[in-house]
Amino acid sequence: MTPRGGTRCLYFPCNALLCLVLTMFIFWLIFLPKEPQFTVSNASLTRFNFTDTDNTLDYNLALNITIRNPNKRVGIYYRRIQVFANYRKKRFANVTLPWAPFYQGHKNTTILNHVLVEGQQLAVFGEHDLSQFKSETAAGVYSIDVKISLRVRARFGKIKTPDYGPSNINCNLKVPLSLSETLPSGFNDTKCRNVHVLTNPSNLPRI
Ligand SMILES: *[C@@H]1O[C@H](CO)[C@@H](O)[C@H](O)[C@H]1NC(C)=O
Ligand SMILES: *[C@@H]1O[C@H](CO)[C@@H](O)[C@H](O)[C@H]1NC(C)=O
Ligand SMILES: *[C@@H]1O[C@H](CO)[C@@H](O)[C@H](O)[C@H]1NC(C)=O
Ligand SMILES: *[C@@H]1O[C@H](CO)[C@@H](O)[C@H](O)[C@H]1NC(C)=O
Ligand SMILES: *[C@@H]1O[C@H](CO)[C@@H](O)[C@H](O)[C@H]1NC(C)=O
Ligand SMILES: *[C@@H]1O[C@H](CO)[C@@H](O)[C@H](O)[C@H]1NC(C)=O
Repeated sequence: MTPRGGTRCLYFPCNALLCLVLTMFIFWLIFLPKEPQFTVSNASLTRFNFTDTDNTLDYNLALNITIRNPNKRVGIYYRRIQVFANYRKKRFANVTLPWAPFYQGHKNTTILNHVLVEGQQLAVFGEHDLSQFKSETAAGVYSIDVKISLRVRARFGKIKTPDYGPSNINCNLKVPLSLSETLPSGFNDTKCRNVHVLTNPSNLPRI
């Protein structure tokens, strides 16, 4: 046991760690992963009736969702896409989109046309929620929060990652009630708040 041997043992893990950090940094610089961008490009709400005698919400919402992959060197596999719709923080719909799984190449834009969120749901709203519902009904525009839940994999060059942890995208919509889906509804396209999909250290795939 020479002091020199002991020193080498102490330094070795340090070098390995440094090497790993440097490799990750170079990898990052080469690929510069950016988050995909979600926009609800159109929406039409043809039914949104709440009946307080039996607490049912009757809804028919159609959405066009645009997903853009801004990356030059990173492809994205959408393994599962679920859409949840909430009114006054109460979830009333849960739809798994039939488009997934699909691959989205570099700089590609995918339009999910006519995502249909339709049905009837038991919903118990508080007094405050009901008065909000009444005033929104009078105005003819409803605040509906759509959450898009994702399961993705990424492709860096030829390397395909395992699944990332689940991520959620939030779209706070103001959707006017319209009589017919084919009439212009006056909906303004809405960018969704991007929570981290590819760059959140806590949901990176475990390789
Ligand atoms: C929803 O409400 C509107 C107006 O309040 C009414 O005309 C329509 O019949 C209702 N639709 C359903 C399915 O209850
Ligand atoms: C969505 O609905 C399915 C069945 O309709 C259910 O199994 C699943 O738990 C729901 N997911 C969430 C997050 O509510
Ligand atoms: C985007 O992806 C689709 C489907 O894979 C493909 O047909 C289209 O050519 C791609 N567009 C670009 C600009 O890469
Ligand atoms: C979505 O896009 C399709 C095709 O571009 C269009 O026909 C439809 O009216 C749009 N709006 C909704 C709400 O689906
Ligand atoms: C949205 O869809 C409606 C029909 O559903 C259509 O009349 C309108 O032009 C669309 N708006 C945009 C911005 O695409
Ligand atoms: C769309 O945008 C215009 C202009 O900012 C605004 O006056 C209108 O109320 C918006 N419509 C909806 C449904 O939010």
